[in-house]
Amino acid sequence: MLKVFEAFSGVGAQKMALRNLNVEHEIIATSDIDPVAIKAYAYIHDPEYMSSSLNIDINIAKKYLIDLNIISNEKVDRTKNNDIIELYKACICSKNLGDITKIDINNIPDHDLFTYSFPCQDISSVGKLKGLQENSGTRSSLLWECKRIIESKKPKFLLLENVQNLVRGKNKDSFEQWLEYLNDIGYKNTWKILDSKNFGIPQRRQRVFVVSKLEEENYLEIFNKKIEMKSIYDILDKSNETYYTYTNKIDVDINHGEYKFFDDRDWKMNGIIVNDICSTQRAGRSGLKCIRNENGELQVRKLSDLECWRLMGFSDVDYNNLKKVNFPSTSILKLCGNSIVVNVLEGIFENMLKENTYD
Ligand SMILES: C[S@@+](CC[C@H](N)C(=O)[O-])C[C@H]1O[C@@H](n2cnc3c(N)ncnc32)[C@H](O)[C@@H]1O
Repeated sequence: MLKVFEAFSGVGAQKMALRNLNVEHEIIATSDIDPVAIKAYAYIHDPEYMSSSLNIDINIAKKYLIDLNIISNEKVDRTKNNDIIELYKACICSKNLGDITKIDINNIPDHDLFTYSFPCQDISSVGKLKGLQENSGTRSSLLWECKRIIESKKPKFLLLENVQNLVRGKNKDSFEQWLEYLNDIGYKNTWKILDSKNFGIPQRRQRVFVVSKLEEENYLEIFNKKIEMKSIYDILDKSNETYYTYTNKIDVDINHGEYKFFDDRDWKMNGIIVNDICSTQRAGRSGLKCIRNENGELQVRKLSDLECWRLMGFSDVDYNNLKKVNFPSTSILKLCGNSIVVNVLEGIFENMLKENTYD
């Protein structure tokens, strides 16, 4: 049984990948502070628990959420009791330890795999580039908080994911410092920039992955997996063809009956550039659009939340679990923008775990 700690857990793309691969595993803990992400995680991975009732003193639930830094003192009293209980339940069922800076190491069970896709805001090319230096107080410097956990628990495998800017420019020194640190405490690291378009998903999404293994030689073959691209027909929600469709006629010459993606920024700046592969989904950018060509006419469509969800390799079953409890589209788009394409994780885990040496 693979025991896993998903730090910065989001919707749990890591768990989705292990589930899809039928890897016998147990999530021994997660860590996140965003109420929307915490609830989404719980409704996706344990909808039964979330639909059961729970008797808990409201003041105990409030204190718990405040202690974990998930809700502030000011906000707690403005939040409805039902919402407090729902969030508390989500934390319990996902074994969420809350703010990574506050976690008591003694509360973390032993585990074999530690995943840490820490916040990218300060290193991403679309952010203010404040960097991730240790003790700098930036959100991306939360990376260094993982030291306490890794040193005390020494899991056999570690998996880091972040934007490709992590290995470039002014972030490069911090990245190298991190690898050196892992090396000093006994990990062999291998890293690569992987693009989800090589893992069967028609989304251009380049991300850095670092796989570390305790006391083993490097094994770069981890990342060798090319999967044939899924058709964009498989992504589009055919039942909802007119969703967000503008009637503008567009002067672009593409073949009849084809769907093509194009980039939002190109739309604004240069008119339309037609691409077969959709641009990177980002938390702050809702509105990827595609061109629909039927009956010889071209139209523009903003992708729906379901289509964006599928562009992350996520399943319709998981999407439906969120929709059943009325998750807003804007939240779903944000969760997608922050997450990891699950097919890429499957490729990594398949190789990482093939010798099954964690038992
Ligand atoms: C890039 S996202 C990771 C997404 C995740 N890998 C997934 O599968 O969806 C970073 C996550 O870190 C969380 N986060 C931010 N500050 C945190 C903190 N102090 N402690 C724990 N999690 C935090 C954010 O709420 C966000 O969900």
